[in-house]
Amino acid sequence: MDCRYYVPMLNLVGRGVIGDIGREAEILHGRRAFIVASAGEVGESQAARVTDALRAHGLETSSYCEAVPNPTVAVVERGLAKYGETGCDMIVAVGGGSAIDTAKGIGILAANGGNLRDYEGTNKTTRAMPPFIAISTTAGTGSEVTRFAVITDERDHSKFTIVDWHMMPNVSVNDPEMMMSMPASLTAATGMDALTHAVEAYVSKNATPVTDAKACKAVELTAKSLHAAVKDGGDIDAREDMCYASFLAGTAFNNAGLGLVHAMAHPLGGMYDLPHGLCNAILLPHVVKFNMDSASRKYAELAAATGGGKPWRSERENCESFVRFIEGLSRRIGIPARLGGLGVRVEDLEKLSKEAMEESIGATNPRRYEASQVLKIYKTAF
Ligand SMILES: [Fe+2]
Repeated sequence: MDCRYYVPMLNLVGRGVIGDIGREAEILHGRRAFIVASAGEVGESQAARVTDALRAHGLETSSYCEAVPNPTVAVVERGLAKYGETGCDMIVAVGGGSAIDTAKGIGILAANGGNLRDYEGTNKTTRAMPPFIAISTTAGTGSEVTRFAVITDERDHSKFTIVDWHMMPNVSVNDPEMMMSMPASLTAATGMDALTHAVEAYVSKNATPVTDAKACKAVELTAKSLHAAVKDGGDIDAREDMCYASFLAGTAFNNAGLGLVHAMAHPLGGMYDLPHGLCNAILLPHVVKFNMDSASRKYAELAAATGGGKPWRSERENCESFVRFIEGLSRRIGIPARLGGLGVRVEDLEKLSKEAMEESIGATNPRRYEASQVLKIYKTAF
């Protein structure tokens, strides 16, 4: 079994680590930082906090607070134009996956030229993006530690994935103090995204002992603290556990890959502009049931990590208890149980199944699948 392990050069996790980014930007020889954040008040205040931390170390800054959920080609291209105008020499992303993926898109275009679609697939660029610090504020996306970016092509509402080690951040930051004001619904959805990353990485065909260690611990921490973080956003211990869970799950899937849940969630997000974590949360128990016979030992191990699996029970019973754990956690944190409740139309399910079959991230799923089986899972989750 081979292991190729990608991870940012420096990873900061814990309370108050945001205060260290100025020093790290200096070490990266940044003089003027291009700060990418989400559109709206929250994004602007996050960008302001980053600006203060960088200016305290003598850096100049320009902010681009226009990232949107399910980031589009147009948003990346506008950001690229602004990056060029401002004469920045490094990029600092602050926010969830949308802001960080937007920053990755800007960075590879700034270094390589061309169009984003040119880089769809794996390692298509020839030059590294400018020095890059990625600060997560959502405890779920994992984008701050990965070589993945998911971009929506607004012309046909399709999503495409760029996997490129030239997009790996030099520094990742996960600070629970940056997450305290996150609303309960977002905490729930992004936490379930982290759980899905961990589960899909753990049962992936490309899993290794390195990724297993990280994914399993991420499941344990999510089982321990996601509900508490949703119930009381001011519970900093729970927030910090979710920082670690998200970080560990991100490093696991960055190297082991994902699976059918993400392959099915991406078309849903592209077609209806739905929150990514919510789509994953609804689909996850259905895909675990579909995969069960192909990865029963591993699901049983994850059941044990949640505290629900018991050694005296059969592997099958422990797998089933893992499905019940996912469903129960989703229910307790207010995740809807069905896709139909999110505005998904039954007449679109066939088209969604075809698009899911084209998602390369499903290639590491432990069980092979056909469009008819994917359609059946969408219908069951509908
Ligand atoms: Fe995800």
